[in-house]
Amino acid sequence: MSVKLNESYIGRFVSEKDMAEIRGEIERSLQTVKEGTGAGNGYLGWRDLPLNYRTEEYNRIKTAAEKIRRSCDVFVVIGIGGSYLGARAAIEFIKSPKFNELPGTSPKIYFSGNDISAASLSELISICDGKDICVNVISKSGKTTEPAVSFRIFRELLEKKYGEEGARERIFVTTDAHKGALKTLADDKGYESFVVPGNIGGRYSVLTSVGLLPIAVAGCDIDAILSGAVKARKDLIDAPFDVNPCLRYAAIRNIMYRTGKKVEILAAYDGALAMLNEWWKQLYGESEGKEGKGLIPDSVIYTTDLHSLGQMVQEGASDENFNRIFFETVFDVKNARSDISVPFDKDDLDELNYIGGRTLHEINATALKATALAHSDGNVPNLIVELDSRDEKTFGYLVYFFELACAVSGYTLGINPFDQPGVEAYKNNMFALLGKKGEKFDEIRSKLNK
Ligand code: PA5
Repeated sequence: MSVKLNESYIGRFVSEKDMAEIRGEIERSLQTVKEGTGAGNGYLGWRDLPLNYRTEEYNRIKTAAEKIRRSCDVFVVIGIGGSYLGARAAIEFIKSPKFNELPGTSPKIYFSGNDISAASLSELISICDGKDICVNVISKSGKTTEPAVSFRIFRELLEKKYGEEGARERIFVTTDAHKGALKTLADDKGYESFVVPGNIGGRYSVLTSVGLLPIAVAGCDIDAILSGAVKARKDLIDAPFDVNPCLRYAAIRNIMYRTGKKVEILAAYDGALAMLNEWWKQLYGESEGKEGKGLIPDSVIYTTDLHSLGQMVQEGASDENFNRIFFETVFDVKNARSDISVPFDKDDLDELNYIGGRTLHEINATALKATALAHSDGNVPNLIVELDSRDEKTFGYLVYFFELACAVSGYTLGINPFDQPGVEAYKNNMFALLGKKGEKFDEIRSKLNK
């Protein structure tokens, strides 16, 4: 299992000279990550986590997952951003986006607290009606509004249904070891709790209890996920630049940025990767989008989006010199989970016999090649990321690959890849409008009232 880069469609846009020129910077950035000497170095816990996470807490995750699997029909996972995207990405990648509808799935897993939609919460409550429920609320800070609101509602629902004692057996909390309102509440109520390590930021936390508990409840093998991440660390952290796909990816996206690209589009040819794309968008968007810098991370699912955005990608947005403003990073999953052949039809009225007998996986792979060629002809560089299959080890490997590449890429860009100072701005305004007293309350209220 590995992640390989196929650079054959990008060679026309990135020369060996470009790569040789940036190589020193990328190697220095990697060294900064390894030595922990860069900005945000208090948040490097993800770097060695795969090597040392099989702790007492890890065993408790497995035991809790088994208990949850035995005791409910519906498992509600409450969290937002880094406390949500990784687990959902894993379940959809390893299992299926149709996980809940597949025969035999139990418990069904729903995600809540990732928006403030009343309709979405009401629908979920009605789905839970008459079912046995367990809840895992995940919030590192323990004070994020969206999950806190959802959890208050589900806590009340569980206490009404099972009594306070019964609810305690069904509520699992993942939060900071020491601080935050959620920690206070969990201690007060005696809920079983898991720790988000203080030295790992939300978007780098999927391989901790944040992701692993819900992923284990879905029936995925979390040992295999961690072993994939261990292998990635071994393969990528010391390998020389020329043969290190992680460093080459970080190099290529920085070269793209320096040559005027504004957007990196992550493309996949299967909807099972849609949430992985969302996880990646947060990782790169929140890590690099600061100080007026950074590529905008966007994503598409092909061939679906070729019928909506294909025209834009092929011939659209360019800068004043007619250079295209985006490039594509494309997932190519080599092995099919299952396959179906196009049947022959003796009348061939739909004129499909030319692909009769071919499998959908083969046709999808052909669409990928055809699109990479067409888009490169349209001056949109295509970098292909080859994966073996949609399994646990590959998921763990990919997570580590992108986290390490993000840290290296961010340092090369000249920013701190581990903070997110900008996300507070809307929250401060919202809190002031809702009447929550805090820093600059009066100043914000008077600005918003004008
Ligand atoms: O990556 C991040 O830090 C954020 O996306 C957080 O994960 C998100 O805001 C949720 O925060 P918390 O886990 O504190 O509720």
